[in-house]
Amino acid sequence: MEKINLDDVSLNMDAIEFQHAGHLLVDYITTFLQELPGKKVTTGAKPKDIQKILGNNSLPQTGGNTIDLLEETSKMLFDHSLFNGHPKFWGYITSSGAPIGALADFLAASVNANVGAFALSPMATEIEKQTIQWLAELIGYNKDCGGLFVSGGNMANFLGFLAGRRNKIDGDIRKNGLPEITIDPSQNSTGYKEKRRYTIYCAKGTHTWIHKATDLFGHGTDSIRWIDCLPDQQMNISHLKQIIKEDKQFGHKPFLVIGNAGSVSTGIIDPLTEIAAFCKSENLWFHVDGAYGAPAACLPELAENFKGLSLADSIALDPHKWLYSPLEAGCILVRDPRHLHDAFSFTPEYYNFGGNGKDAPMNFHEYGMQNSRGFRALKVWMSLKQVGRNGLTQMIRKNIELAKLLFQLAEDNDRLEAISQNLSITTFRYVPKNETNQDLNQLNETLLNRLQAGGEVFLSNAIINGNYCLRVCIVNFRTSDSDIRELVQIVLREGEKLYNEMVLTTGEKHP
Ligand SMILES: Cc1ncc(COP(=O)(O)O)c(C=O)c1O
Repeated sequence: MEKINLDDVSLNMDAIEFQHAGHLLVDYITTFLQELPGKKVTTGAKPKDIQKILGNNSLPQTGGNTIDLLEETSKMLFDHSLFNGHPKFWGYITSSGAPIGALADFLAASVNANVGAFALSPMATEIEKQTIQWLAELIGYNKDCGGLFVSGGNMANFLGFLAGRRNKIDGDIRKNGLPEITIDPSQNSTGYKEKRRYTIYCAKGTHTWIHKATDLFGHGTDSIRWIDCLPDQQMNISHLKQIIKEDKQFGHKPFLVIGNAGSVSTGIIDPLTEIAAFCKSENLWFHVDGAYGAPAACLPELAENFKGLSLADSIALDPHKWLYSPLEAGCILVRDPRHLHDAFSFTPEYYNFGGNGKDAPMNFHEYGMQNSRGFRALKVWMSLKQVGRNGLTQMIRKNIELAKLLFQLAEDNDRLEAISQNLSITTFRYVPKNETNQDLNQLNETLLNRLQAGGEVFLSNAIINGNYCLRVCIVNFRTSDSDIRELVQIVLREGEKLYNEMVLTTGEKHP
């Protein structure tokens, strides 16, 4: 039998090899970042193209050369990715990842702290605690709040949901599951047959995380009450009050109201102060989905819009959106740390992490869903230290100014219709003359698909009052005024091209 030399197969690298490989990789990344603005945002490749490049090989039997591996893998990723760090990427809500964040991830992975317990990650645990406190300070929330890092906005919202449910639904839900709702006989006499539920309230247009939460945590999506919006798209408080009143009359048990601090499609901030006051009077948990917009609460000029944020029982943040952190980094803040502890803590006998006493350690596994946890907080902590409150404020303000500039340019152009602008999201559409609304929807949808596949710019879409709109969300520290002006020219050029093609095909329309 062939004798295997363990030195040849070990994942370990000696100092010289690691240093050489690391320097090479940093060189590759440096060139990639320098060349980024000149690249296409995406290649528009189809899955089959990518699978071909990757190769349909089975698991390698033996290993290969480390330096070759780094070079090949870097090239594959640099040549065949969508770059959300490109100055002209404004799709969905994914930010340009800060380079300091990439370095922080490298550092975090190298130390490989398990931030589930203080004993396993002394410095990392304290840095995560401090980052939570700084984020609370940044957005004007209670500095003594609890919280922890999670993978993203969905998970952060789930934790707010579960903390609220634990706190507002009577009985030992963790042991017994959701309690049955017993109905007052007078309510049965109404002939109302629907199952009584623990109900949740949010504005139409709330992100789809709420579907997953109600499904996964046993409520069912029918427990969501979609509250109407006012013409400006904010939650209609009168409707909220009316629906809660009716639900209570029928024996449902409302427990949670969600306010948006920057809705996913258009960046709307709900009337947070009014929702907070109503929740207090009704003993309901007030959770704010600030995954996109909450960081903008650091701008003094937006203080009025975000005033009620500080009154929330819990707030979901998502540093991989408007805090420019590389994926993944989400974060939940909860006014009183005990509410997370009550919802998640178990202490099995095989954990020897300590817990009581004056100088009790923070064991994050007791505050969330994960057990072993990576050090996501480091990239956020390092970027906060790199630029401070002032730097962040300036970048966020600049993104909002660019969204306003785009709105203005669309308003000033008779081939574009400016639809909305809130925070750093602008929606608009291409409008050739003499078009019906239906044609416009089709035209703009095809236009978006073309723009996305073309790779010069990357936008996404929003449907507003039945209108298919182009949507630009700027959470990007690389975007400049000239990128926005170029975007307008590209949309006009491609819009006209597409329209002319449609005219040729149907032979009916008049430019
Ligand atoms: C308002 C809002 N909430 C939640 C989410 C979900 O965040 P993630 O994709 O990080 O899970 C998003 C994502 O765009 C969002 O915009």
